[in-house]
Amino acid sequence: ELIRLEGFGKELLKHKNKIFPYFANHLLKIKSLKVKNDDVFVVAYPKSGTTWTEEIVWLVENNLDFEKASTVSHTDRVLFLDEKPLDQSEQALSPRVFKTHLTFEYLPDQVETNAKVIYVMRNPKDMLVSFFHFAKWIKGFSFSGKFDAILDLFLQDKIIYGNWCEHVNQFFANSNVLFITFEDLIEEPFETTEKIASYLGKKLSNEQIQSLVEFTSFKQMRKNSSFCFQETDKNSEHNQLDLFFRKGEIGDWVNYFDEQMSSKLENKLKNELNPNILIKYFSS
Ligand code: A3P
Repeated sequence: ELIRLEGFGKELLKHKNKIFPYFANHLLKIKSLKVKNDDVFVVAYPKSGTTWTEEIVWLVENNLDFEKASTVSHTDRVLFLDEKPLDQSEQALSPRVFKTHLTFEYLPDQVETNAKVIYVMRNPKDMLVSFFHFAKWIKGFSFSGKFDAILDLFLQDKIIYGNWCEHVNQFFANSNVLFITFEDLIEEPFETTEKIASYLGKKLSNEQIQSLVEFTSFKQMRKNSSFCFQETDKNSEHNQLDLFFRKGEIGDWVNYFDEQMSSKLENKLKNELNPNILIKYFSS
């Protein structure tokens, strides 16, 4: 049973202990969606590089059709599973690229056996800074607090889509899932893009990969008007693309976290994150 929340998250939904955005009305019906063998699901916790990865995946799946990627709205090209009415997803033409922030228990049952899944993780400190700005900007969140409030929500597993560690652990543990990071995409864009293409069974030339990397760079995506965020606009004086494509960097968290805040977050990771993820990505 989905419950509507009052108060700070007045437009949020709750299921069991997890909070979801107001638009996930059909959340409990998603499991029944029929999945095809050539479907691809891009999964991430919000603000972790979902859109970036989606765009790379869409282009790989659509023979690097840069023209279409510049002219057809991104929300028509990539299906946002959590929000899109199921009949629209059902009727969409193959190859279908889905984006979602949901964990396996909410995903279509057939995803595990039929589809390819790419998971993107981002350093949670940078994710939270990005989320903080997003929450201030986007309609549907009545948030005007300070960054501390966002960190507190994270520590209490009250950010939409639930506990971050559980989210990441689940997809990391599934060997059919291609697990990449926002940091990989920034630091090794060529190798990471190549990895995505080869997971999708596509062999691209070096030139093709290079053109894909350029087209999906922060600078280029920020100029691509197929990303139109008009509907989520709270403050129409700002250029919406600049608000969504905010900084696109690693390490902005240093401007928001003091030592105490850092150690609170790190303690949570030590207790809840799969030690292999901790060692591989967060031991420095
Ligand atoms: P910042 O707010 O830190 O800039 P999501 O798509 O999961 O909502 O993630 C949004 C974040 O990814 C934003 O982070 C956004 O700027 C960043 N992003 C999107 N496209 C990017 C790109 N091509 N290169 C670098 N960062 C990108």
